[in-house]
Amino acid sequence: MEAASATPPGAPPSGSNGGGAAGRLDARHLFALEEGTRHLNHGAFGATPLSLSAEQAEWRGRMEANPTRFFMTILPKALRHAAEAVAPFLGTEPERLGFVANATEGVATVLRSLALGPGDQIVVTDHQYNAVRQLLAFMAQATGAEIVTVPLGLPLDPAEAPAAIAAAIGPATRLVIVDHVASGSAVTFPVADIAALCRAQGVPLLIDGAHAPGLLALDIDAIDADYYVGNGHKWLMGPKSCAVLAVSPSAAPVHPLAISHAFGQGFAAEFDKQGTRDMSAALTLPSAIRLHEALGGEDLRAANRALALAAATDTARAMGTGLGATPSAFQSMVTIGLPRPLPATRETFAALSAHLSENHRTEAAFTAIAGTVWLRISAQVYNTFEDYEGLGPAVAEAVAAAAEAAEAAAAKAAGQGAG
Ligand SMILES: Cc1ncc(COP(=O)(O)O)c(C=O)c1O
Repeated sequence: MEAASATPPGAPPSGSNGGGAAGRLDARHLFALEEGTRHLNHGAFGATPLSLSAEQAEWRGRMEANPTRFFMTILPKALRHAAEAVAPFLGTEPERLGFVANATEGVATVLRSLALGPGDQIVVTDHQYNAVRQLLAFMAQATGAEIVTVPLGLPLDPAEAPAAIAAAIGPATRLVIVDHVASGSAVTFPVADIAALCRAQGVPLLIDGAHAPGLLALDIDAIDADYYVGNGHKWLMGPKSCAVLAVSPSAAPVHPLAISHAFGQGFAAEFDKQGTRDMSAALTLPSAIRLHEALGGEDLRAANRALALAAATDTARAMGTGLGATPSAFQSMVTIGLPRPLPATRETFAALSAHLSENHRTEAAFTAIAGTVWLRISAQVYNTFEDYEGLGPAVAEAVAAAAEAAEAAAAKAAGQGAG
């Protein structure tokens, strides 16, 4: 495997509110995270500070104290207030912003709004998140549309992605979907360049920015895609079930999946009224943004990124492997090669994760791109460099155990086949 050059490992990053080791140790107490476990998988589900969970509980208290008043009077105003606070942080306008439960729902909402039919094509890459790939498989089955996957693989230089995507766009392309920061590879894609080429070809672009809010400086309007989806419960650390969908004024109109009383009253009104649902997570997003800024904002992101890269470089060196891409392609989440190839099966992922969790009390992610399995680590404000010490040998041990299990399963299957 080609080992991408990486910054040398070193001391934990310091010098900012989010980066200093003491600040980071203090930050652990802001969370409900169990002690004794190394939490190196923030990218998957986030982790919510106690203060935001408490605020969510307060919103729920108000909801149940007087449901009629809450849903009829308080919630509509509170949602717009939240949108006004969240939009500038994301680089867009409040009236373009709708709250959805998660990124998957955001993508589904856009897809449902397109009148797809037989012969239509949707262009995606092989870095696309598996759940969204399944959603597209369902849409293809239901409409007769075709999914065109651009093979990029990993290691990858993301600068090569725009040309590869452009080459896949044709007269039947109805939509391009690109991840801003891909889950499986952790690579950041040059989304503004991809948006420019899609505009030049007159093809709508949906950016799946599930990871982006709070992970990088985001300016949705400057990217100039038609549709942008981002999670609030990952790097912004909001409670689960809060995400945003931003739609450009020039894009084909989008309606929520659950159309309710506000149908026909405009984008914001329709998204604010999607049946009776618990919107308490979204209502905490203004506080989540304030907390992100109080923890350092840009400095926090830089410190997290430096920690993730230093830890990943150290881990790769211990395993004799390399990173999934050039370091500049990564934010606070990095992919690392494994010491030997493994079958990219559900069983392998379960065995690797269980080994790390049960034998080393470590939560990290294993992902697959184009059939190759990778380790993915994250760094958030509650992590210190010590969290990653010994990770390389622990993962190498998990890989050896998973390989042995896979070989035993293959031998058994071969024996059964022969018999
Ligand atoms: C790129 C990408 N898209 C979509 C999702 C789905 O997010 P959710 O489970 O919050 O819907 C994820 C989750 O990790 C992701 O990484």
